[in-house]
Amino acid sequence: MNTVSFEARTRELLNELRESGTHKALRYIGGPMGATVNLEDRGEVICLCSNNYLGLADHPEVVAAAHEGLNRHAAGTASVRFICGTFACHREIEDTIAEFAGTEAALTYVSCWCANEALIGTIVGKNDVIFSDELNHASIIDGCRLSKPRERMVYAHRDGADLETKLKANMDADARWVITDGVFSMEGAVANLAELVNLCKRYDARLIVDDSHGVGVLGRTGRGTPEHCDVLGQVDIITGTLGKALGGAAGGYVAGSRDLVDLLVQRSRPSLFSNALPPTVAYSARQAIQLLQRDTVLMDRLRANIARIRTGLADLGFECQDSPTAIIPIMIGDEAEAIRKSERLLELGVWVVAFGYPVVPKGKARLRVQVSAALTDEHVDRVLEAFGTL
Ligand SMILES: Cc1ncc(COP(=O)(O)O)c(C=O)c1O
Repeated sequence: MNTVSFEARTRELLNELRESGTHKALRYIGGPMGATVNLEDRGEVICLCSNNYLGLADHPEVVAAAHEGLNRHAAGTASVRFICGTFACHREIEDTIAEFAGTEAALTYVSCWCANEALIGTIVGKNDVIFSDELNHASIIDGCRLSKPRERMVYAHRDGADLETKLKANMDADARWVITDGVFSMEGAVANLAELVNLCKRYDARLIVDDSHGVGVLGRTGRGTPEHCDVLGQVDIITGTLGKALGGAAGGYVAGSRDLVDLLVQRSRPSLFSNALPPTVAYSARQAIQLLQRDTVLMDRLRANIARIRTGLADLGFECQDSPTAIIPIMIGDEAEAIRKSERLLELGVWVVAFGYPVVPKGKARLRVQVSAALTDEHVDRVLEAFGTL
């Protein structure tokens, strides 16, 4: 029998990646995440590749709240939630999330990745059918893989007609679960939630929206894609991250009915077998949400930056799809070319990451610009100047 050692096949894969120019090197940052960051190998650069949409990752009130959490509850629970791992600050952040999302209750996890796997792996029954948008995030795909439904169906991206055909053909299932990103992370496109809510009503399906890139960005008061699409309170289950707009540390949540949250406490494996959210994060994320509830200053600033950068890039001849989100993909096609362009931008002090296969389909490599409220007008000028040289 011919065997290939793990070491040999790993070396072969890594060599292939290096030769094709697609090997990812981690870059180390010396200070906090902000409009600019200090890259160990490049010095200070403008950061257009973080999900720090509202600039809260180094906001003084968010940092002070994290310190307060540390002072009050120290490092963490050293336990899973149901044994002795729930602090008062977990109830506080979960009540705050539920109120913000417009749901009865919420449950936190150490990441949204965990939240998606926990949720989908727990709620889907064996005679159920899942309907998942073809461009959904990897954590939704893996969550679907962990569940054991009668069938997992993938519908064409944002294609209500395709979804409807598939729903119609599965009316004999015990339950139908439609799952979508609110904002698609590689496209910056917004799910058509009004259409999905209607289809779910018509075909007696439940709607799950992962709003990781929508919360804090979309909607007049930052309540995300449901607010933007005017369906606040009509989405059955919302998942999201605390690691992007809402403070940027880590952490995720599921928001829905009280019974759903109780079911997850009883049955979801990441809450039964994994530690609780660190108190620093429970405090910093709560402060982030409270900042959004105070006024819309940061969201207004983000929207002004998005508008300036989108218009500026379009004026320079880059094809940017019209979208209200803070994610602006610039299609390049060839992955090595996309990487060369991102290297060129970095030489000019602007950090934009190139994405290729397997994160996006082959031949659809792109630069992904992510806008932050932390960027000043001068940063935006410098960004557009750098893109002008490509
Ligand atoms: C749509 C979506 N869902 C979930 C996640 C995972 O979030 P977390 O970092 O909290 O695990 C991401 C992160 O990139 C995401 O883009």
